[in-house]
Amino acid sequence: MRIIRVDNYEEMSKKAASMVASQMILKHDSVLGLATGDTPIGMYKELIKIYNDKEIDFSDVKTFNLDEYYGLSDDNHESYHYYMMNNLFKYVNMKSENINILSGVTDNIEEECSNYDEKIKRSGGIDIQILGIGVNGHIGFNEPSVNFEAGTHLVELDKKTIESNSRFFKSMDEVPKSALSMGIKTIMQSKVIVLLANGEAKAEAIYKTVKGKICPEVPASILQLHNNVNIIVDEAAAKLL
Ligand code: PGA
Repeated sequence: MRIIRVDNYEEMSKKAASMVASQMILKHDSVLGLATGDTPIGMYKELIKIYNDKEIDFSDVKTFNLDEYYGLSDDNHESYHYYMMNNLFKYVNMKSENINILSGVTDNIEEECSNYDEKIKRSGGIDIQILGIGVNGHIGFNEPSVNFEAGTHLVELDKKTIESNSRFFKSMDEVPKSALSMGIKTIMQSKVIVLLANGEAKAEAIYKTVKGKICPEVPASILQLHNNVNIIVDEAAAKLL
């Protein structure tokens, strides 16, 4: 694991955007694995700037998002479809047919999940996967569990995740209790992984991810077994390292 310490959120966002941009310059038809949440918003803003400076081009790029809330339609303002559209896609020249996000309203979950893994494989695999991390150590929506979930699957969200995500909803009752998420195996097959973490709330999860035992109770700890993981952390998130 490569730990890249930065002073603050802005620096973290710039470094992450540079890594994604470099990948896109090296390979015009890169396959990007994208994350949602508060953490990568700054990175998307930086990528839009780099795009506006004409240094990168999204026309041949394919994207696969990590997860989507189960039960939320694409136009729901809290869906990750909506997030991606409004934080990145509408500002760059992505082709809509190259955007892949799991459907939160599928009536065939199994098929939706297996098709997603199949499509990632057919695209040649994810060149660079961006990850945030939950306060409980989740990546994507792979929650602490007794097993590492392999492929893309339906997840019951952890109490801590529901609490943490309730900040985006009007009330706790409105927070979806389940989601579709890329599995650990899918994530681990990415060629390069960039995990971003900022703020003290993430310090314990980062400590366990980097220094702890590899176990499904801390899903991100599995990343210790990947040969190209870059963890960009600000001072607060790196506090316990
Ligand atoms: P956050 O979420 O970026 O909103 O903190 C990260 C995550 O839960 O993976």
